[in-house]
Amino acid sequence: MPTAHNNAEKGDIAKTVLMPGDPLRAKYIAENYLEDPVCYNQVRGMLGYTGTYKGISVSVQGSGMGMPSIGIYSWELFNEYGVENIIRVGTAGAVADSAELRDIIIGVSASTNSNYAAQYRLPGTYAPTASWKLVSAAVNAAKDKGCRFHAGNILSSDTFYDDADSLSQWRKMGVLAIEMEAAALYMNAARAGKNALCILTVSDCPLRGLSTTAEERQTGFRNMMEIALETALTIS
Ligand code: HPA
Repeated sequence: MPTAHNNAEKGDIAKTVLMPGDPLRAKYIAENYLEDPVCYNQVRGMLGYTGTYKGISVSVQGSGMGMPSIGIYSWELFNEYGVENIIRVGTAGAVADSAELRDIIIGVSASTNSNYAAQYRLPGTYAPTASWKLVSAAVNAAKDKGCRFHAGNILSSDTFYDDADSLSQWRKMGVLAIEMEAAALYMNAARAGKNALCILTVSDCPLRGLSTTAEERQTGFRNMMEIALETALTIS
């Protein structure tokens, strides 16, 4: 049944969905990495496609920016469309000194300054965590590729333009990188009893004032996509 945000029919979407933030990235991934992609959603321009990768069915859909947006799309994929696994593929700002431009970050856990967890009325602080089977498959794929990667805690922030100088505080706690979606995705997956992972490529270093060129972003993107697709294959 189509929802208010997605006009796919049940069965149009694969059990595993890759989610870039940008819907045009979803189109690019579908056209360049999947065979026989079919577009299943155009509502609000949040393009979604299903195709095959090495014989398995895989979907790719934009999430939009920020936790409210990925919160809506991933909730519907898990709870209305029977999706089992969502792998977010995105960019991040480096926080840890060890994270360099173009490095791959595998988000084992996602700290956050968002209040998304308040809806669960927990008597404490929740730790949004990726699914181990996706983490271990992604780590193996990254090792096989031989590219630089880090696996650990990331920060999902509600703000891109933040008025406080809080990144150095998060760095003291060992946070690897900052992005804006993973914590809500991990909480939706946990609540639905499903699996999620966020794989990132470092596009900039806000603490050091560095950013990647368009060409560097493409290389990082290719590594991340190959890791994400091999992860989808391993868990299928
Ligand atoms: N902040 C938040 N999200 C991001 C950043 C950043 O510096 N870089 C890429 N995604």
